[in-house]
Amino acid sequence: MDAVNPSVVRPIGSVEALVRLAAADMARVDALITERMDSPVPVIPALAEHLIAAGGKRLRPLLTVAADRLAGGKGDHSLKLAAAVEFIHTATLLHDDVVDGSQLRRGKVAAHLIWGGSSSVLVGDFLFARAFELMVETGSLRALQILAKASSVIAEGEVMQLTRSHDLNLDQQTYIEIIGAKTAELFASAAESGAVAAGASEDKIAALRAYGLNLGLAFQLTDDALDYGGKTEDLGKNAGDDFREGKATLPLLLAIGRSGPREADFWQRVIGDLKQTETDFKRARELIVGTGALEATLDLASDYAETAKASLELFPDGEWRRALEALADFAVTRAV
Ligand code: IPE
Ligand code: IPE
Ligand code: MG
Ligand code: MG
Repeated sequence: MDAVNPSVVRPIGSVEALVRLAAADMARVDALITERMDSPVPVIPALAEHLIAAGGKRLRPLLTVAADRLAGGKGDHSLKLAAAVEFIHTATLLHDDVVDGSQLRRGKVAAHLIWGGSSSVLVGDFLFARAFELMVETGSLRALQILAKASSVIAEGEVMQLTRSHDLNLDQQTYIEIIGAKTAELFASAAESGAVAAGASEDKIAALRAYGLNLGLAFQLTDDALDYGGKTEDLGKNAGDDFREGKATLPLLLAIGRSGPREADFWQRVIGDLKQTETDFKRARELIVGTGALEATLDLASDYAETAKASLELFPDGEWRRALEALADFAVTRAV
């Protein structure tokens, strides 16, 4: 099957404008990241660099910087918060790949396959702790509170997902609650803390939080669609990971609801009992595409992206606002 190409029906978003606008700030964020991942304990910088130097889209720190600048901020505090946000994200990736047993991340062998699961988890903890040091340095108790809360909510989301894996009866509302916690909360907090750093008014802080939250939901829904419709070489992680793990994501749940009684045994075997053969992923993908479940997932992602854009309406039209609108479209049209 071809990779998902929803651009025919959806506006093509691009992060290029945002990356260009934020280039000088993001260069300083990257310098902070490199400086603060250092440690005299050799495994720590080696493992952290393996993942961090592999790149990543840096979307969350971009959000922090952009929210600050859109809200008229001129200071440096958002840069430290942005570095902290990327550390939190990186820490969750290290933990997540152990939990999910994933083999590929950012186009490279997952860190736990090189250094082992224990080192991966502990270096994840180190990055979490470094994120808190950076936040404290800004002196903003409010930003600290926002991102501390996000960290516990992400962990709750990951645990919630773990306990509901293989659940063919997971309802859509609970699924949204899970992705809201494990993914959208960090997007929301990244934008909110940037607005706080700018000293924005309460309505603008709330608007940027709402933008981040809806963007994050759109982003994870698309990610879950790409696990079936994307290509490993674009994603830098293995397509089909969710299926092999038996993870109850929306494309799968919708396809189960839409397929007939003949397929009920198939879903029970491959997801409920996690007994899979080589060709099962192909069949699942055909059912997910054939029932329109993939398209419906992307439609829902588009709805959240539109809601995200609408939250920006109280800001005057300008290049930062337009770049964030394009980012919302990108969240849904992306292949990477
Ligand atoms: C991966 O996030 C984890 C999810 C929430 C799906 P990204 O796709 O933003 O990962 P990187 O940072 O670009 O590698
Ligand atoms: C992403 O989880 C959310 C976090 C890392 C907290 P997933 O397991 O859905 O994302 P990928 O596919 O591994 O990037
Ligand atoms: Mg994962
Ligand atoms: Mg996971």
